[in-house]
Amino acid sequence: MTTQSNITQQGEQFSPSRNIINPRLDALPDYPFERLRDLLDPLVPPADLAPIALSLGEPQHPYPDFVGEILHANRHLYGKYPPVAGTPDFRRAVADWLNRRYELPDGMVDPDRHIAPCAGTREALFRTAFMAVPPTKAGQQPVVLMPNPFYQCYAGAAIAAGAEPIFVSARAENGFLPDFAGLNESILERTALVYFCTPGNPQGAVADLTYLENLVALSRKYDFTLVVDECYAEIYNDAPPPGTLQICAANSGDMSGILVFHSLSKRSNVAGLRSGFVAGDGELLMLFRRLSEYGGSPSPLPVYAAATALWQDEDHVVANRALYVEKFDMAERILSNRFGFYRPQGGFFLWLDVGDGEAATKELWARAAIRVLPGAYLSADDDVDNNPGKNYIRVAMVHEKSIMEDALTRIADTLS
Ligand SMILES: Cc1ncc(COP(=O)(O)O)c(C=O)c1O
Repeated sequence: MTTQSNITQQGEQFSPSRNIINPRLDALPDYPFERLRDLLDPLVPPADLAPIALSLGEPQHPYPDFVGEILHANRHLYGKYPPVAGTPDFRRAVADWLNRRYELPDGMVDPDRHIAPCAGTREALFRTAFMAVPPTKAGQQPVVLMPNPFYQCYAGAAIAAGAEPIFVSARAENGFLPDFAGLNESILERTALVYFCTPGNPQGAVADLTYLENLVALSRKYDFTLVVDECYAEIYNDAPPPGTLQICAANSGDMSGILVFHSLSKRSNVAGLRSGFVAGDGELLMLFRRLSEYGGSPSPLPVYAAATALWQDEDHVVANRALYVEKFDMAERILSNRFGFYRPQGGFFLWLDVGDGEAATKELWARAAIRVLPGAYLSADDDVDNNPGKNYIRVAMVHEKSIMEDALTRIADTLS
């Protein structure tokens, strides 16, 4: 079940030529997309097929026209340093969205104290480990827990912050949800930070309110910071995934130790705009903003203006979600009963059990010009030396419908 692992096994070791380089960083494995390049570069895809990249979670759906219009209208503001706290309008729009989306009680989220913008959530997730990992916990090296498979940023952040990353298996048998509470007491006592993602990347599992309630209770019992990455929260099949702030609402609005992360990259198809936010514990966010003052790079003011309008608008989000539902209907038609196909509750990935994810990835590229990501590149070996992602490939359903239909048909034909 649990699973401590040595992620340096995954990829090439980086060997610094100068011993002044921070030795912690030796443990960072190659990033999955670097490994994918190494795997596929020696192969030549068929010349008569247009290559289709389904490896990167970069939505290709359109974003609203008003984004460009607002950026243009505010272009005179590019000359100004933007505030790390964002603009009051931005914070208000985010607070209103949280209140609507999660039906939070009035006044629970104070836009000035409980919300901090970030230029995309990746860097903010990374910075959080730096902030939340003390030199020791329970007298020992602190631990950062995360699901396995995991978004790679979590592991890199844990290593860079000097913690021991521990990967907790999220397999089909446990509904792709990690059992953090089942860990040894000795690990939980050393835990300084937990990264959790719902809907999960890559499996699309959605944690229900009971799961979230137990996780919040665990964070209070063992006094760790709980980060819940909810960046796929707006892409779902039928029911909106619950949010961790709902648990805080049920606990008299107590957000201590809790941070939730949301991004416009997936919700609004603007990965290149670099805009998201963190909400939760006011004290942690004060520190978060302080660190931004020293070393952060806030979004430009025209970006805050466009982001404000995006959080205020639901029409494009509803239309976006409908496109994914159509594509998952199509995937169900083309792939069902094969490759362990299941329809994820949320997010935009297929997580297909193909027996050997790396072999299937090579075959798909060499025979069908389809680029996917081997599941093993998103996960670490567990304590029985068994990588929970190794049988899988991750397929990002990010292109428009006709391209996806072609791609899924090629996948089905090639791997059958
Ligand atoms: C689980 C997860 N969290 C966070 C991010 C970061 O997104 P961004 O930095 O664009 O907000 C991604 C991007 O792929 C992701 O998959």
